[in-house]
Amino acid sequence: MAPYKIAVIPGDGTGPEVVAEGIKVVQHVAEKCQFQCDFTYFNNGGDHYKATGEILSDDTIKQLSTFDAIYLGAIGHPDVQPGILEKGILLKLRFQLDQYINLRPVKLYEGVETPIKNKGPKEIDFVVVRENTEGLYAGAGGNLKKGTPDEVAVQESINTRKGVERCIRYAFDYCQKRNKSKKLTLCGKTNVLTYAFDLWERTFHEVAKEYPDVQIDYAHVDAICMWMVKNPEWFDVIVTDNMFGDIITDLAAMIQGGMGIAAGGNIHPQGVSMFEPIGGSAPKYTGKQMINPIAAISAAQLMLDTLGQNKAALMIESAVMQVIKNDLKDLAAGKMGYTTSEVGDLVVEKINAAV
Ligand code: IPM
Ligand code: MN
Repeated sequence: MAPYKIAVIPGDGTGPEVVAEGIKVVQHVAEKCQFQCDFTYFNNGGDHYKATGEILSDDTIKQLSTFDAIYLGAIGHPDVQPGILEKGILLKLRFQLDQYINLRPVKLYEGVETPIKNKGPKEIDFVVVRENTEGLYAGAGGNLKKGTPDEVAVQESINTRKGVERCIRYAFDYCQKRNKSKKLTLCGKTNVLTYAFDLWERTFHEVAKEYPDVQIDYAHVDAICMWMVKNPEWFDVIVTDNMFGDIITDLAAMIQGGMGIAAGGNIHPQGVSMFEPIGGSAPKYTGKQMINPIAAISAAQLMLDTLGQNKAALMIESAVMQVIKNDLKDLAAGKMGYTTSEVGDLVVEKINAAV
């Protein structure tokens, strides 16, 4: 089989050091499962922008669109005004490559502490399917009389039937294949956002007819924040729009043990998808080998799973679970006890030991 062509954007801050561990793990698991990955590096990010003024060229996007997947470290630089790199790289790629799903598994591994009292791995295991190309992120709106007392700012949420339907359909499919409690919760705000979420709700019920084995459920976004803390076990798969998805997945990341653990995929099911740890670039810690690479390793797992290498993905997950449980015992106390690269080595060790 031809090698998978993986584009790597290590990015800013601690991105490169966590990405290095993800790649180390992928290389070992690939050898074990007898497939190959070719990695091609792209240097987009804050330093490249500062040196050249270039954020992400059309030519780079064109090149990226020829890969099987993109593996991204982190974007965000202390000397660059917030928003420039996030919009210019991360959001631009999501939009241009039409990665219309943002997939965020939320799973508490044994040995990881959650701030939710009396809840453990049995209760915290769900997935958020966030729409990733529309809503408030579409950039519709504008301003008038900026900087004056009469300033007007409008930011509109764009919801298309096509965009909503493909997201909801993906969520039903995902929920069915996940095959846990087969419950899909639509997270919206139908009591106030009566145009946007009327479209979401109607579409949800129409598509639901094609999935009679999936139980459907609805919760307003504010209520879901409450239930996620009080009864996380109620959730199996949650589907929602871009903005609500952004907010609830940060909450969800905390209940699964924080940013060192949380990974996400920006997915176009038939196109080029991009996988990232969701923790950010943590510039203060750059080069210090202090950041937990598990989120980046789990992002690589999600990448292999999406590429169809399900066995390899399961091997990574099982190795990660062993490392968290047996080696990173002080994680709960906020201590990793190992360097970033040692944690990668531990995961590799478990992969090599697996039969
Ligand atoms: C995320 C991030 C991004 C978003 C930012 C960095 C633009 O918060 O992936 O959730 O808002 O989508
Ligand atoms: Mn976010």
